[in-house]
Amino acid sequence: MTYLANKQRYQQMQYRRCGRSGIHLPLLSLGLWHNFGHVDLLSHARKILLLAFDSGITHFDLANNYGPPPGSAEENFGKILKSDLAPHRAEMIISTKAGYWMWDGPYGDWGSKKYLVASLEQSLKRMGLEYVDIFYHHRPDPETPLEETMSALDLLVRQGKALYVGISNYGAEEAAKAISILRKLGTPCLLHQPVYSMLNRWVEKDLLSVLEQNGVGCIPYSPLAQGILTDRYVHGIPSDARASRSIFLKTENITPEIMKKVQRLTEIAKKRNQSLAQMALAWIVKDSRITSVLVGASKPEQLADSLKCMDNLQFSPDELSAIEKILQ
Ligand SMILES: NC(=O)c1ccc[n+]([C@@H]2O[C@H](COP(=O)([O-])OP(=O)(O)OC[C@H]3O[C@@H](n4cnc5c(N)ncnc54)[C@H](OP(=O)(O)O)[C@@H]3O)[C@@H](O)[C@H]2O)c1
Repeated sequence: MTYLANKQRYQQMQYRRCGRSGIHLPLLSLGLWHNFGHVDLLSHARKILLLAFDSGITHFDLANNYGPPPGSAEENFGKILKSDLAPHRAEMIISTKAGYWMWDGPYGDWGSKKYLVASLEQSLKRMGLEYVDIFYHHRPDPETPLEETMSALDLLVRQGKALYVGISNYGAEEAAKAISILRKLGTPCLLHQPVYSMLNRWVEKDLLSVLEQNGVGCIPYSPLAQGILTDRYVHGIPSDARASRSIFLKTENITPEIMKKVQRLTEIAKKRNQSLAQMALAWIVKDSRITSVLVGASKPEQLADSLKCMDNLQFSPDELSAIEKILQ
């Protein structure tokens, strides 16, 4: 069926400027790490993607290795782009990354210029794109000189294959170095993609202030701790949940201690007329240094639920201190 985008989509979303750049990102962005690979149903992935776009989500985050198998999320995204979203390409911010293992041999992993350039070439082919909006180095490489990795990002922008560049999983100190090198090269770092949730708050120590000082945006990933900060595991571990299906969330991570916190947080969320997922997302974007929050969804209903976090983004001091006590 021909897809006609919801005409009201931009009225339904809030947008924030990304650092000191010209780009605005939606408060919620959609990640395609899980649920968009060849192991998943394309028609189902399409529903999630189109719901996102119809809700004002303009930013879609991929990586070379998303699937499984690696590369297949980009392929499926390319198919949906071609069948439905191609007329809207100019309205979309599409990102991809390289930095984790992608192919055998010495040039398919980490941070060499060889790897990054070859990988983006492949990503563009898989998605059927001429350029991506953001290309990230996916994780720091302790052995490749940072100058080489950053100059690969700069090169790809100069070649027109990426409009902006970002870094992901860099600690505060290495992020500051990367940002400085990129600035000298004339290709400013647009944004940083760190893991951040109520259960993993490492960015609060130094990283957020480094990004703010440098005018770099921040787009946290796994804000729901891959589903732990939702109602997903309240009655055990469902067979269709990520903890049952993926190597990246282990059942042993879902401990009685964590579930006790989840239960207490859910009680606060209820008093705010929110699901725990909605409260966990609102809690992240309460900090104005956060540009957007990168959610995942295995069902359209989950994305619809998460989007409703925007109905209540304010926290009273009492709510914040009650949450703080639980998280200590
Ligand atoms: N840069 C990096 O190294 C890196 C690493 C990881 C992720 N990321 C990016 O961040 C994106 C998001 O990561 P993530 O998928 O881990 O994020 P997440 O939002 O923390 O977790 C998503 C999972 O939570 C569950 N869920 C989502 N919304 C729900 C709701 N409203 N109610 C109940 N359950 C809900 C679903 O689990 P079920 O599948 O169990 O239903 C869903 O698959 C990725 O797609 C990727 O783009 C980047």
